[in-house]
Amino acid sequence: MQPTAPRTLAATPAPQALPTSLAALPTSAAAERNKRPILEVLEALLPPEARVLEVASGTGQHAAHFAAAHPRWHWQPSDRDAPALHIIAQRCAPLPNVAPPLLLDLLAPDPAGAAAPLGDGGFDAVLAANLLHISPWPTCAALMHLAAMRLREGGVLIVYGPFEVEGEPLEPSNRAFDEDLRARDARWGLRKLGDVQAEAAHAGLLFQRRVAMPANNLMLVWRLATAAGSTVAMAAACASR
Ligand SMILES: C[S@@+](CC[C@H](N)C(=O)[O-])C[C@H]1O[C@@H](n2cnc3c(N)ncnc32)[C@H](O)[C@@H]1O
Repeated sequence: MQPTAPRTLAATPAPQALPTSLAALPTSAAAERNKRPILEVLEALLPPEARVLEVASGTGQHAAHFAAAHPRWHWQPSDRDAPALHIIAQRCAPLPNVAPPLLLDLLAPDPAGAAAPLGDGGFDAVLAANLLHISPWPTCAALMHLAAMRLREGGVLIVYGPFEVEGEPLEPSNRAFDEDLRARDARWGLRKLGDVQAEAAHAGLLFQRRVAMPANNLMLVWRLATAAGSTVAMAAACASR
């Protein structure tokens, strides 16, 4: 079955004039808090030179922080909100390794957009932070499908955020957060790790790693199988029947 959620990928219009101060740009307190721990995990996962597609970049604080720390990481930010793109562009303007942000809505009705090329080859990584709990559930399948299409063989999908892990008690802060999210929008809420895993497996992504992060968040890592890896995995699956 193909994912039901199509998506678009298109270049954003040229950003407006830069503000006099980056400090004047909208800022997420959570992104300020978590950008350092997330960077530590990225540094363990990514090679010194890497092409990264970030989905749902929001304020662009992560893009700016990660790209500034690693000038040889080529960062492609994106978001579905046009106003966010201008903020990202302004915040990342001093960084030559950050590309102009793309308008990328995982749920937009434009399947052809997902096939549009983003330069030669695939990305080494696709990153999505704080997206799956604050968007409708089909966003998960759409993200997995996008990663499967956009990653090079062996590339990684990295997802950060709070999750409910089956068989483990939900932390009180995460339970309260989940209730708050669902009250704000009935389609939102913490996702069950097993459900997310199923969508990833369906897209052909192999689970690699789960990293515990501050404030009861997780970093989840999947890898797009290499052709050789797929053959080995398929042989193993056949042998186990
Ligand atoms: C809570 S913010 C997270 C921003 C940033 N990643 C961070 O961690 O600070 C969620 C972001 O997801 C974006 N978003 C929501 N639904 C989306 C979709 N269908 N496709 C792409 N981005 C989406 C929103 O526009 C928003 O910028």
